[in-house]
Amino acid sequence: MDTYTTHTQQITVDKDNPQPERIAQAAAIIQRGGLVAFPTETVYGLGANALDAQAIRRIYSAKQRPASDPVIAHIAHVNELQRLAVEIPDAAYQLAEAFWPGPLTLVLVRGSHVPPEIATGLATVAVRMPSHPVAHALIAAAGVPIAAPSANTFTRPSATTAAHVLEDLNNHVDIVLDGGAATIGIESTVIDMTQDNPVILRPGGLTVDRLREVLPEIVQMDSSKLSQLDNEPSSSPGMMIKHYSPRAEVILFDGGDTRRVLAAMRQTAHELADAHKRVGILTTNEEADQFTDTGARIISMGSRRNYEQIAHVLFGAMRALDNQKVDKILVRAYERDGLGLAIWDRLLRSAEGRVRHVE
Ligand code: TXA
Ligand code: MG
Repeated sequence: MDTYTTHTQQITVDKDNPQPERIAQAAAIIQRGGLVAFPTETVYGLGANALDAQAIRRIYSAKQRPASDPVIAHIAHVNELQRLAVEIPDAAYQLAEAFWPGPLTLVLVRGSHVPPEIATGLATVAVRMPSHPVAHALIAAAGVPIAAPSANTFTRPSATTAAHVLEDLNNHVDIVLDGGAATIGIESTVIDMTQDNPVILRPGGLTVDRLREVLPEIVQMDSSKLSQLDNEPSSSPGMMIKHYSPRAEVILFDGGDTRRVLAAMRQTAHELADAHKRVGILTTNEEADQFTDTGARIISMGSRRNYEQIAHVLFGAMRALDNQKVDKILVRAYERDGLGLAIWDRLLRSAEGRVRHVE
């Protein structure tokens, strides 16, 4: 696949009150069919005019992403939903009313004037209204919905800072708007609204509990299915198991008895060190001291009880271990409640399904 190459300009913006002239410069690039990376409350997006098929193709080319993986259209006002989708069910408006702007993406029937490229030919389109002031200002100034996947190279951990974007996409995006670190740090929750009962396709920054307060009938994609997914694009586009992966191989340790799980991790760390492998441990304040004698590079993501904090730093921590050139990353699984479900999902995908179950 050809790759979109250009000179990348980095522009710092105030994250709360983005400077209008800087936003206007980026919006002009979008209008001309170029690419702008911008912060959202979840992760950075790699944006293009969602109504311009050629611009959307540039996204795929810059990310080196197969054209089988559909992209989210971002809007600044709820009334733009009708510009993108048709047959919008009441339930979609209920969710939009409750959670937009925010980390929620709705999959709806695609309007006929929206280029099929955005959804890789599917009859649907995914729509999200982000809450980040920079994202909002950019979409409003561009005057068009902005198609944007996460601003990372295909299969790499999502970018949560402008520096991460440049690590992956320098000279493949026209402008990077630097608005500091994304607050949530994990992508939006994606819900398919075209089914009889809405189905969560991707757990994310908005928890299932909060969604069910508004729509109790929401169905969760069976998480056991996750580990059965292979590397091929399937009926759940973009949900293949290899995703969010650091270059190092991630091994996810799981099991009910914490002590035994930690013991297994320690033993694996020692064995790998004996085999002259560089080991990284992705852990928490409570457990970091378990690994000090293993010689591994240890990153603590904060308190194990604080899922918000872990989500906020997770992708950056994976990138940091990669930059330390580790061969393997060992990490203990999280409970699948609240935001923990999305954390588990990202870890499982980064591990490409490699789970070490410790009994
Ligand atoms: O938080 C987010 O959602 C970030 C920010 C930038 O908004 N975006 C993001 O985009 O994570 P991306 O492309 O990395 O992930 C989009 C997800 C994929 O799982 C994709 O399969 C799903 O949304 N998706 C997009 N369009 C879809 C469609 N028409 N039908 C089903 N799933 C769709
Ligand atoms: Mg992504």
